[in-house]
Amino acid sequence: MENTAIKNKYTAIPITELEQSAFCQTEKPKTETLDVEFGSGVRWQSLPIQYMKLPPKEIETQIHKKRAILGQEVLILGHHYQRDEIIQFADITGDSFKLAQHAATNTEAKTVIFCGVHFMAETAAALAQPDQKVILPNMTAGCSMSDMAKPEDVLECWNNLNEILDMSSITPLTYMNSAASIKSLCGENNGYVCTSSNAAKVMEKAFEQTDKILFLPDQHLGRNTAKTLGIPLEKMIVWNPYKDLGGNSLEKIKESKVILWKGHCSVHTRFNTDQISEARAKYPDINILVHPECTMEVVDSADYVGSTEYIRTTVGNASKGSVWGIGTEISMVNRLSKANPDKTVFCLDPIVCPCSTMYRIHPAYLLWVIDNLLEGKVVNTIDLDPSIAKNSKIALDRMLAIK
Ligand code: 13P
Ligand code: SF4
Repeated sequence: MENTAIKNKYTAIPITELEQSAFCQTEKPKTETLDVEFGSGVRWQSLPIQYMKLPPKEIETQIHKKRAILGQEVLILGHHYQRDEIIQFADITGDSFKLAQHAATNTEAKTVIFCGVHFMAETAAALAQPDQKVILPNMTAGCSMSDMAKPEDVLECWNNLNEILDMSSITPLTYMNSAASIKSLCGENNGYVCTSSNAAKVMEKAFEQTDKILFLPDQHLGRNTAKTLGIPLEKMIVWNPYKDLGGNSLEKIKESKVILWKGHCSVHTRFNTDQISEARAKYPDINILVHPECTMEVVDSADYVGSTEYIRTTVGNASKGSVWGIGTEISMVNRLSKANPDKTVFCLDPIVCPCSTMYRIHPAYLLWVIDNLLEGKVVNTIDLDPSIAKNSKIALDRMLAIK
Protein backbone atom coordinates (compact mmCIF):
# COMPACT_ATOMS: atom_id res chain seq x y z
CA MET A 1 0.00 0.00 0.00
CA GLU A 2 1.40 3.42 -0.93
CA ASN A 3 1.83 5.64 2.07
CA THR A 4 5.26 7.12 1.68
CA ALA A 5 3.94 10.69 1.57
CA ILE A 6 2.26 10.33 4.94
CA LYS A 7 3.85 12.07 7.89
CA ASN A 8 3.30 9.96 10.95
CA LYS A 9 4.79 12.26 13.53
CA TYR A 10 2.70 14.58 15.65
CA THR A 11 3.00 18.26 14.94
CA ALA A 12 0.49 20.65 16.43
CA ILE A 13 -1.79 21.89 13.65
CA PRO A 14 -3.71 24.83 15.13
CA ILE A 15 -7.45 24.97 14.55
CA THR A 16 -8.11 27.74 12.05
CA GLU A 17 -11.33 29.77 11.98
CA LEU A 18 -12.03 28.06 8.67
CA GLU A 19 -11.87 24.62 10.26
CA GLN A 20 -13.90 25.75 13.26
CA SER A 21 -16.68 27.28 11.17
CA ALA A 22 -16.74 24.36 8.70
CA PHE A 23 -18.09 22.04 11.37
CA CYS A 24 -19.88 24.55 13.65
CA GLN A 25 -23.43 24.52 12.39
CA THR A 26 -26.99 24.77 13.56
CA GLU A 27 -27.51 21.07 12.90
CA LYS A 28 -25.53 17.95 13.75
CA PRO A 29 -22.45 17.84 11.46
CA LYS A 30 -22.74 15.09 8.87
CA THR A 31 -19.75 12.95 7.93
CA GLU A 32 -18.87 13.42 4.24
CA THR A 33 -16.14 11.84 2.12
CA LEU A 34 -12.70 12.83 3.41
CA ASP A 35 -12.20 14.69 0.14
CA VAL A 36 -15.20 16.92 0.82
CA GLU A 37 -14.13 17.54 4.43
CA PHE A 38 -10.64 18.48 3.22
CA GLY A 39 -12.39 20.95 0.90
CA SER A 40 -13.29 23.01 3.99
CA GLY A 41 -9.65 24.04 4.17
CA VAL A 42 -8.52 21.71 6.96
CA ARG A 43 -4.88 20.61 7.22
CA TRP A 44 -5.18 17.01 8.33
CA GLN A 45 -2.91 14.05 7.62
CA SER A 46 -3.18 13.11 3.96
CA LEU A 47 -4.23 9.62 2.88
CA PRO A 48 -3.86 7.70 -0.40
CA ILE A 49 -6.39 9.00 -2.92
CA GLN A 50 -8.69 5.93 -2.81
CA TYR A 51 -9.53 6.69 0.83
CA MET A 52 -10.25 10.34 0.11
CA LYS A 53 -13.10 9.55 -2.22
CA LEU A 54 -14.79 6.63 -0.42
CA PRO A 55 -18.39 7.37 0.58
CA PRO A 56 -19.00 7.08 4.37
CA LYS A 57 -21.45 4.16 3.91
CA GLU A 58 -18.86 2.18 1.94
CA ILE A 59 -16.23 2.91 4.60
CA GLU A 60 -18.61 1.64 7.28
CA THR A 61 -19.29 -1.61 5.43
CA GLN A 62 -15.58 -2.22 4.86
CA ILE A 63 -14.61 -1.52 8.46
CA HIS A 64 -17.29 -3.92 9.76
CA LYS A 65 -15.99 -6.71 7.53
CA LYS A 66 -12.26 -6.10 7.96
CA ARG A 67 -12.22 -5.33 11.69
CA ALA A 68 -13.83 -8.77 12.33
CA ILE A 69 -10.86 -10.46 10.60
CA LEU A 70 -8.41 -8.80 13.01
CA GLY A 71 -10.34 -10.15 16.02
CA GLN A 72 -8.97 -9.72 19.53
CA GLU A 73 -5.46 -8.94 18.33
CA VAL A 74 -6.71 -5.39 18.02
CA LEU A 75 -8.44 -3.26 20.64
CA ILE A 76 -10.26 -0.11 19.55
CA LEU A 77 -10.65 2.54 22.25
CA GLY A 78 -13.01 5.46 21.65
CA HIS A 79 -13.29 8.68 23.62
CA HIS A 80 -16.85 9.99 24.15
CA TYR A 81 -16.20 13.01 21.89
CA GLN A 82 -15.64 10.91 18.78
CA ARG A 83 -18.13 11.03 15.93
CA ASP A 84 -20.92 8.39 15.91
CA GLU A 85 -19.36 6.94 12.75
CA ILE A 86 -16.25 6.11 14.82
CA ILE A 87 -17.76 5.29 18.19
CA GLN A 88 -19.79 2.45 16.66
CA PHE A 89 -16.50 0.55 16.17
CA ALA A 90 -15.06 1.14 19.65
CA ASP A 91 -14.66 -1.98 21.81
CA ILE A 92 -14.52 0.31 24.82
CA THR A 93 -15.72 3.89 25.17
CA GLY A 94 -14.93 6.14 28.08
CA ASP A 95 -13.39 9.23 29.59
CA SER A 96 -9.62 9.71 29.73
CA PHE A 97 -9.32 7.85 33.02
CA LYS A 98 -11.34 4.80 31.98
CA LEU A 99 -9.47 4.53 28.68
CA ALA A 100 -6.09 4.87 30.44
CA GLN A 101 -7.09 2.08 32.84
CA HIS A 102 -7.95 -0.16 29.89
CA ALA A 103 -4.68 0.67 28.19
CA ALA A 104 -2.84 -0.28 31.39
CA THR A 105 -4.65 -3.58 31.99
CA ASN A 106 -5.14 -4.87 28.44
CA THR A 107 -2.51 -7.50 27.74
CA GLU A 108 -4.33 -9.48 25.08
CA ALA A 109 -4.38 -7.11 22.11
CA LYS A 110 -1.11 -6.63 20.23
CA THR A 111 -2.32 -3.33 18.84
CA VAL A 112 -4.47 -0.59 20.32
CA ILE A 113 -6.17 1.79 17.90
CA PHE A 114 -6.85 4.93 19.90
CA CYS A 115 -9.75 6.93 18.53
CA GLY A 116 -9.23 10.09 20.51
CA VAL A 117 -6.54 12.74 20.58
CA HIS A 118 -2.75 12.64 20.71
CA PHE A 119 -2.21 13.02 24.47
CA MET A 120 -4.59 10.11 25.08
CA ALA A 121 -2.76 7.85 22.63
CA GLU A 122 0.58 8.87 24.18
CA THR A 123 -0.76 7.94 27.60
CA ALA A 124 -1.89 4.56 26.30
CA ALA A 125 1.58 4.04 24.77
CA ALA A 126 3.31 4.87 28.08
CA LEU A 127 1.07 2.39 29.92
CA ALA A 128 1.10 -0.38 27.30
CA GLN A 129 3.22 -3.53 27.47
CA PRO A 130 6.62 -3.25 25.70
CA ASP A 131 5.46 -5.45 22.79
CA GLN A 132 2.19 -3.59 22.23
CA LYS A 133 1.71 -0.84 19.65
CA VAL A 134 -0.61 2.15 19.97
CA ILE A 135 -1.96 3.80 16.84
CA LEU A 136 -3.52 7.25 16.47
CA PRO A 137 -5.45 7.07 13.16
CA ASN A 138 -4.87 10.73 12.24
CA MET A 139 -1.63 12.22 13.57
CA THR A 140 -3.01 15.76 13.42
CA ALA A 141 -5.63 14.95 16.07
CA GLY A 142 -4.11 17.00 18.88
CA CYS A 143 -5.72 19.07 21.61
CA SER A 144 -5.55 22.86 21.59
CA MET A 145 -5.40 22.99 25.39
CA SER A 146 -2.51 20.55 25.53
CA ASP A 147 -0.70 22.61 22.88
CA MET A 148 -0.97 25.69 25.15
CA ALA A 149 1.68 24.14 27.41
CA LYS A 150 4.80 23.85 25.28
CA PRO A 151 7.28 21.55 27.02
CA GLU A 152 10.10 24.13 26.74
CA ASP A 153 7.91 26.81 28.39
CA VAL A 154 6.94 24.45 31.18
CA LEU A 155 10.58 23.58 31.77
CA GLU A 156 11.46 27.26 31.91
CA CYS A 157 8.68 27.85 34.44
CA TRP A 158 9.88 24.89 36.51
CA ASN A 159 13.47 26.21 36.42
CA ASN A 160 12.27 29.70 37.43
CA LEU A 161 10.37 28.22 40.36
CA ASN A 162 13.48 26.24 41.25
CA GLU A 163 15.40 29.48 41.66
CA ILE A 164 12.72 31.13 43.77
CA LEU A 165 11.45 28.32 45.97
CA ASP A 166 12.71 25.43 47.98
CA MET A 167 11.75 22.75 45.44
CA SER A 168 10.85 20.27 48.12
CA SER A 169 7.92 22.63 48.82
CA ILE A 170 6.15 22.30 45.44
CA THR A 171 4.55 19.38 43.56
CA PRO A 172 4.00 19.47 39.78
CA LEU A 173 0.59 18.10 38.85
CA THR A 174 -0.46 17.85 35.22
CA TYR A 175 -3.87 17.18 33.76
CA MET A 176 -3.88 14.20 31.41
CA ASN A 177 -4.38 16.72 28.57
CA SER A 178 -0.67 17.46 28.21
CA ALA A 179 2.35 16.20 26.28
CA ALA A 180 4.16 13.09 27.53
CA SER A 181 7.28 15.15 28.24
CA ILE A 182 5.29 17.23 30.76
CA LYS A 183 4.00 14.07 32.43
CA SER A 184 7.62 12.94 32.46
CA LEU A 185 8.71 16.13 34.26
CA CYS A 186 6.04 15.38 36.88
CA GLY A 187 7.27 11.79 37.19
CA GLU A 188 10.84 12.95 37.70
CA ASN A 189 9.87 15.48 40.36
CA ASN A 190 7.64 13.45 42.64
CA GLY A 191 4.53 14.75 40.86
CA TYR A 192 1.32 13.34 39.47
CA VAL A 193 -1.02 13.19 36.52
CA CYS A 194 -4.76 13.65 37.06
CA THR A 195 -7.88 13.48 34.94
CA SER A 196 -11.20 15.27 35.24
CA SER A 197 -12.57 12.28 37.17
CA ASN A 198 -9.95 12.21 39.93
CA ALA A 199 -8.49 15.74 40.06
CA ALA A 200 -9.68 16.44 43.62
CA LYS A 201 -8.30 13.16 45.01
CA VAL A 202 -4.96 13.64 43.28
CA MET A 203 -4.68 17.29 44.33
CA GLU A 204 -5.44 16.28 47.91
CA LYS A 205 -2.68 13.68 47.72
CA ALA A 206 -0.26 16.25 46.31
CA PHE A 207 -1.09 18.62 49.18
CA GLU A 208 -0.17 15.83 51.62
CA GLN A 209 3.42 16.05 50.36
CA THR A 210 3.83 19.82 49.81
CA ASP A 211 1.78 22.92 50.50
CA LYS A 212 2.24 24.34 46.99
CA ILE A 213 1.22 22.89 43.59
CA LEU A 214 2.03 23.79 40.00
CA PHE A 215 -1.09 22.77 38.05
CA LEU A 216 -0.80 22.29 34.26
CA PRO A 217 -2.21 23.13 31.72
CA ASP A 218 -5.92 23.88 32.40
CA GLN A 219 -6.36 26.86 34.71
CA HIS A 220 -10.11 26.19 34.97
CA LEU A 221 -9.89 22.55 36.07
CA GLY A 222 -7.11 23.57 38.47
CA ARG A 223 -9.09 26.48 39.95
CA ASN A 224 -12.37 24.54 40.19
CA THR A 225 -10.62 21.65 41.89
CA ALA A 226 -8.58 23.74 44.33
CA LYS A 227 -11.76 25.61 45.24
CA THR A 228 -13.53 22.39 46.21
CA LEU A 229 -10.59 21.65 48.52
CA GLY A 230 -11.11 25.01 50.24
CA ILE A 231 -8.15 26.90 48.75
CA PRO A 232 -9.05 30.62 48.67
CA LEU A 233 -8.88 32.33 45.27
CA GLU A 234 -6.29 34.82 46.54
CA LYS A 235 -3.92 31.88 47.09
CA MET A 236 -4.14 30.91 43.42
CA ILE A 237 -2.07 32.67 40.75
CA VAL A 238 -1.96 32.24 36.99
CA TRP A 239 1.34 31.56 35.20
CA ASN A 240 1.39 33.22 31.77
CA PRO A 241 4.28 31.66 29.81
CA TYR A 242 4.61 34.80 27.68
CA LYS A 243 5.53 37.00 30.66
CA ASP A 244 8.52 37.15 33.00
CA LEU A 245 7.90 35.02 36.07
CA GLY A 246 4.56 34.15 34.48
CA GLY A 247 3.41 37.73 35.11
CA ASN A 248 3.72 37.42 38.91
CA SER A 249 5.75 39.12 41.61
CA LEU A 250 8.19 37.08 43.69
CA GLU A 251 6.05 37.75 46.71
CA LYS A 252 2.87 36.44 45.05
CA ILE A 253 4.68 33.29 43.93
CA LYS A 254 5.95 32.65 47.44
CA GLU A 255 2.54 33.29 49.03
CA SER A 256 0.53 31.20 46.56
CA LYS A 257 -0.70 27.68 47.17
CA VAL A 258 -1.66 26.84 43.58
CA ILE A 259 0.12 28.11 40.47
CA LEU A 260 -2.26 27.64 37.53
CA TRP A 261 -0.86 27.39 34.01
CA LYS A 262 -2.61 29.80 31.64
CA GLY A 263 -4.33 27.21 29.46
CA HIS A 264 -7.97 26.50 28.65
CA CYS A 265 -10.25 24.39 26.50
CA SER A 266 -11.77 26.29 23.60
CA VAL A 267 -14.82 23.99 23.62
CA HIS A 268 -15.68 24.29 27.31
CA THR A 269 -14.99 28.01 27.66
CA ARG A 270 -17.87 28.60 25.19
CA PHE A 271 -20.33 27.92 28.01
CA ASN A 272 -21.52 30.86 30.10
CA THR A 273 -23.90 31.67 32.93
CA ASP A 274 -26.41 33.41 30.60
CA GLN A 275 -26.98 30.07 28.86
CA ILE A 276 -27.63 28.47 32.25
CA SER A 277 -30.06 31.24 33.29
CA GLU A 278 -31.96 30.89 30.00
CA ALA A 279 -32.19 27.11 30.40
CA ARG A 280 -33.43 27.49 33.99
CA ALA A 281 -36.03 30.04 32.91
CA LYS A 282 -37.32 27.71 30.20
CA TYR A 283 -37.28 24.53 32.33
CA PRO A 284 -37.60 25.36 36.07
CA ASP A 285 -36.82 21.73 37.09
CA ILE A 286 -33.76 21.42 34.86
CA ASN A 287 -30.53 19.78 36.00
CA ILE A 288 -27.42 21.59 34.82
CA LEU A 289 -24.50 19.21 34.36
CA VAL A 290 -21.13 20.51 33.14
CA HIS A 291 -17.56 19.39 32.62
CA PRO A 292 -14.96 20.82 35.07
CA GLU A 293 -13.01 22.42 32.18
CA CYS A 294 -15.77 25.09 32.16
CA THR A 295 -15.03 28.38 33.89
CA MET A 296 -15.50 28.74 37.64
CA GLU A 297 -18.64 30.88 37.16
CA VAL A 298 -20.26 28.15 35.04
CA VAL A 299 -19.21 25.36 37.40
CA ASP A 300 -20.52 27.33 40.39
CA SER A 301 -23.88 27.82 38.67
CA ALA A 302 -24.25 24.14 37.75
CA ASP A 303 -26.01 21.42 39.75
CA TYR A 304 -23.56 18.67 38.84
CA VAL A 305 -19.96 18.66 37.62
CA GLY A 306 -17.91 15.75 36.31
CA SER A 307 -15.97 13.93 33.63
CA THR A 308 -17.49 12.73 30.38
CA GLU A 309 -18.06 9.24 31.84
CA TYR A 310 -19.74 10.81 34.89
CA ILE A 311 -21.94 12.87 32.56
CA ARG A 312 -22.91 9.76 30.58
CA THR A 313 -23.79 7.65 33.63
CA THR A 314 -25.54 10.47 35.51
CA VAL A 315 -27.90 11.15 32.63
CA GLY A 316 -28.29 7.41 31.92
CA ASN A 317 -29.35 6.74 35.55
CA ALA A 318 -31.64 9.77 35.82
CA SER A 319 -35.38 9.41 36.18
CA LYS A 320 -37.76 9.32 33.24
CA GLY A 321 -39.01 12.76 32.22
CA SER A 322 -36.08 14.63 33.78
CA VAL A 323 -34.49 17.54 31.93
CA TRP A 324 -30.73 17.95 31.46
CA GLY A 325 -28.82 20.97 30.18
CA ILE A 326 -25.29 19.79 29.43
CA GLY A 327 -22.06 21.75 29.22
CA THR A 328 -19.75 19.57 27.18
CA GLU A 329 -18.85 18.64 23.61
CA ILE A 330 -21.70 18.35 21.11
CA SER A 331 -21.03 14.90 19.55
CA MET A 332 -21.33 13.44 23.03
CA VAL A 333 -24.43 15.47 23.96
CA ASN A 334 -26.20 14.45 20.72
CA ARG A 335 -25.42 10.79 21.43
CA LEU A 336 -26.61 11.15 25.02
CA SER A 337 -29.84 12.72 23.86
CA LYS A 338 -30.45 9.86 21.38
CA ALA A 339 -29.63 7.20 24.01
CA ASN A 340 -32.10 8.74 26.50
CA PRO A 341 -35.33 9.32 24.53
CA ASP A 342 -37.37 9.29 27.77
CA LYS A 343 -35.53 12.43 29.01
CA THR A 344 -34.92 15.90 27.61
CA VAL A 345 -31.17 16.27 27.05
CA PHE A 346 -29.65 19.25 25.26
CA CYS A 347 -26.44 21.22 24.96
CA LEU A 348 -26.35 24.57 26.79
CA ASP A 349 -24.58 26.13 23.79
CA PRO A 350 -27.04 26.55 20.90
CA ILE A 351 -24.22 26.54 18.29
CA VAL A 352 -23.30 23.00 17.38
CA CYS A 353 -19.50 22.94 17.62
CA PRO A 354 -17.66 19.64 17.90
CA CYS A 355 -14.17 19.53 19.39
CA SER A 356 -12.33 20.29 16.14
CA THR A 357 -9.39 18.05 16.92
CA MET A 358 -11.44 15.04 18.07
CA TYR A 359 -13.38 15.53 14.83
CA ARG A 360 -10.19 15.00 12.84
CA ILE A 361 -10.60 11.24 13.28
CA HIS A 362 -12.66 10.64 10.14
CA PRO A 363 -13.67 6.98 9.54
CA ALA A 364 -11.45 6.86 6.41
CA TYR A 365 -8.41 6.99 8.74
CA LEU A 366 -9.71 4.04 10.73
CA LEU A 367 -10.19 2.02 7.54
CA TRP A 368 -6.70 2.96 6.31
CA VAL A 369 -5.16 1.80 9.63
CA ILE A 370 -7.13 -1.49 9.52
CA ASP A 371 -6.19 -2.15 5.87
CA ASN A 372 -2.52 -1.70 6.77
CA LEU A 373 -2.82 -4.04 9.76
CA LEU A 374 -4.33 -6.66 7.47
CA GLU A 375 -1.22 -6.29 5.30
CA GLY A 376 1.00 -6.72 8.37
CA LYS A 377 1.91 -3.01 8.60
CA VAL A 378 1.47 -0.87 11.68
CA VAL A 379 1.11 2.77 10.65
CA ASN A 380 0.84 5.93 12.75
CA THR A 381 2.32 4.37 15.87
CA ILE A 382 3.06 6.50 18.91
CA ASP A 383 6.78 6.19 19.58
CA LEU A 384 7.88 7.69 22.86
CA ASP A 385 11.45 8.42 23.83
CA PRO A 386 12.28 5.64 26.37
CA SER A 387 13.14 7.99 29.24
CA ILE A 388 9.99 10.09 28.64
CA ALA A 389 7.93 6.89 28.52
CA LYS A 390 9.50 5.68 31.78
CA ASN A 391 9.08 8.93 33.70
CA SER A 392 5.59 9.69 32.45
CA LYS A 393 4.58 6.16 33.45
CA ILE A 394 5.84 6.89 36.98
CA ALA A 395 3.47 9.89 37.25
CA LEU A 396 0.61 7.95 35.64
CA ASP A 397 1.09 4.93 37.90
CA ARG A 398 1.08 7.21 40.94
CA MET A 399 -2.29 8.51 39.77
CA LEU A 400 -3.68 5.03 39.04
CA ALA A 401 -2.63 3.89 42.54
CA ILE A 402 -4.82 6.52 44.24
CA LYS A 403 -8.12 4.90 45.27
P1 13P B 1 -12.65 13.41 30.15
O1 13P B 1 -11.51 12.77 30.85
O2 13P B 1 -13.73 13.89 31.08
O3 13P B 1 -13.20 12.50 29.10
O4 13P B 1 -12.15 14.72 29.47
C1 13P B 1 -11.25 14.73 28.41
C2 13P B 1 -11.32 15.95 27.65
O5 13P B 1 -10.50 16.23 26.82
C3 13P B 1 -12.41 16.86 27.92
O6 13P B 1 -12.28 17.97 27.13
FE1 SF4 C 1 -8.77 19.27 24.14
FE2 SF4 C 1 -10.98 20.70 24.75
FE3 SF4 C 1 -11.00 18.96 22.72
FE4 SF4 C 1 -10.92 18.10 25.24
S1 SF4 C 1 -12.58 19.21 24.25
S2 SF4 C 1 -9.69 17.32 23.53
S3 SF4 C 1 -9.59 19.68 26.18
S4 SF4 C 1 -9.74 20.84 22.87
